[in-house]
Amino acid sequence: MRIVDIIERKRNGERLSRAELEAIVLGYTRGEVPDYQVAAWLMAVCWRGMAPDEVAELTQIMAASGRQLDLSRVGRVVADKHSTGGIGDKTSMVVAPLVAACGVPVGKMSGRGLGFAGGTIDKLESIPGFRVELSAEEFLDQLQRIGVVLCGQSADLAPADGKLYALRDVTATVQSIPLIASSVMSKKLAAGAQVIVLDVKVGSGAFMREEPEARALAETMVAIGTAAGRRVAAFVTDMSQPLGRAVGHALEVREAIETLRGAGPPDFTALVTRLATEMVLLAGGEPDRESARARVEATLAAGDGVDKLRELVDAQGGEVAVVDQLERLPRASQVEVLHAPEGGWLAAIDARAIGLATVALGAGREKKGDRIDLAVGMVLHAKVGDRVEPGQPLIEIHANDRGRLEQSRALVRAAYRFSSEPTAPPALIHHVGAL
Ligand code: URA
Repeated sequence: MRIVDIIERKRNGERLSRAELEAIVLGYTRGEVPDYQVAAWLMAVCWRGMAPDEVAELTQIMAASGRQLDLSRVGRVVADKHSTGGIGDKTSMVVAPLVAACGVPVGKMSGRGLGFAGGTIDKLESIPGFRVELSAEEFLDQLQRIGVVLCGQSADLAPADGKLYALRDVTATVQSIPLIASSVMSKKLAAGAQVIVLDVKVGSGAFMREEPEARALAETMVAIGTAAGRRVAAFVTDMSQPLGRAVGHALEVREAIETLRGAGPPDFTALVTRLATEMVLLAGGEPDRESARARVEATLAAGDGVDKLRELVDAQGGEVAVVDQLERLPRASQVEVLHAPEGGWLAAIDARAIGLATVALGAGREKKGDRIDLAVGMVLHAKVGDRVEPGQPLIEIHANDRGRLEQSRALVRAAYRFSSEPTAPPALIHHVGAL
């Protein structure tokens, strides 16, 4: 079977067979098919799409490219969650320890940055020493021992997604329902959790800008998970403005820890609470949604998620002192504050522009394997719907390079819109997909 024929068939909009999908995906994972052929195939998928059963087959092939974990030795229902990616989305770093502190084990595989959006794995690497690559045995042992794992794809776990993901990041092939669905769900199926809660982002800072596409992505992923015998719920949530206040790796780790301490921004805390509630409920940790929510809120208020985060950081070789001494996180050399040029209500903060401005500071990759700057980013002082006075601080830019700061500043300035009329903040949760 020639790879070039497979690319041509997808370029012509044809449905590929399981054998063809295996040839390109597993061949790439083994290092036998070069980047340039896979990049051409990915671009053809972006334009031509895939049939629903083709996406399901691709997902199964990717999940089976490494080990598929059997979590029965954990002895309890394990929960997992995944976001499709957005700006300031540090949700997993809060939800995983929080749900584990509620007594429901969480075993989760995340990804690095993709396009204009940061990724949990890169963010976690701003904790000195934190190991993001675990073997299947390490994953299982840790899950059994402390009830929480947060790692990336590895040679053992979803290696096909690890390779495709890094290539998509730098070839403008992220925005595709079949590619996102197979990437997310291959990790979920390989990691083995019985409960999966999906957070599908919608808006300018998401890969799905409009609600119908976001719902289609949610439905595709729910169908794949359900067919594999998992309990899956999907939320479609707002990504028209950045989530919370911090954007950028170390800055987001800081905000995640502050949130676990009960001092997080209101929108982010509300989202974390809602997703964690659903995970506890679906895993049978509480009999109904009301008591699941009460359990999550009480756990958050008691600070038990912070204790669980310390255990997680320790288990994965990270410097535990960071959890209590946030000043040990990487810090940028320059912080510039931008002020409101006029008074009024904040009508929009274009999330994508803020994401691109953060990439411009050095937080994203232009080529595979590029080093990224973990210290740079933004801290928002006001959010959509807030009343601002002329000259009031709007946003901090944390930078390590003057030229990059200038480029970023121009993008940030263009992201803001003001109104002389009161503007309502966007609804945080747009839609909840049925189980
Ligand atoms: N998250 C993933 O794991 N993969 C994608 O393609 C997008 C978000």
